[in-house]
Amino acid sequence: MMQKINIKKLCESDIDLLKSCAELENICISDGWSYQSFLSEIKKQNSYILVALNQENQVTGFLTASYVLDTADLTNIAVASEFRNQGIASELLKFLLQELKNYHIFLEVRISNIPAINLYQKFCFKQVGIRKRFYQNPIEDAILMQYGEENLC
Ligand SMILES: CC(C)(COP(=O)(O)OP(=O)(O)OC[C@H]1O[C@@H](n2cnc3c(N)ncnc32)[C@H](O)[C@@H]1OP(=O)(O)O)[C@@H](O)C(=O)NCCC(=O)NCCS
Repeated sequence: MMQKINIKKLCESDIDLLKSCAELENICISDGWSYQSFLSEIKKQNSYILVALNQENQVTGFLTASYVLDTADLTNIAVASEFRNQGIASELLKFLLQELKNYHIFLEVRISNIPAINLYQKFCFKQVGIRKRFYQNPIEDAILMQYGEENLC
């Protein structure tokens, strides 16, 4: 970790931070969520939007997830390119796994996205399936991965 970061769980009143997440999403992810999508997500009872703030209170990365009963979906994670490889995504994931202890957590990832696949494997997510043509722009299969306490690697 090259600089100190603080993980914050957002709420509806964090308008500027939600806008920063949408900006980062648009830069990092094709077909990503709009600001309106972040806003409707944060209004749900069962959702998480976590941001990683640096000492200047800049959003360096974010993670989104939702949960129901004992199952959760990690819907997105992104770190601004200038802050990558400094352990920020790892800090966001650690925070989520601590919050959602005992949940079965699922996610999809493009089969070509080696940095993200390596990140998830490092945290003991396991491949449990393939979703054919899951992504658009460009069309690509997704690997479905699962984390559960019993998966520990
Ligand atoms: C994937 C992403 C979130 C990783 O963020 P990050 O803050 O750079 O990740 P970390 O520094 O915490 O790295 C943790 C692990 O991820 C893996 N990893 C990260 N970047 C990698 C790269 N460029 N190549 C290969 N593995 C990589 C490594 O296993 C790394 O562990 P190590 O440092 O012990 O080798 C970031 O590259 C990103 O925002 N990508 C674009 C958005 C995206 O694809 N999101 C995933 C959608 S499913």
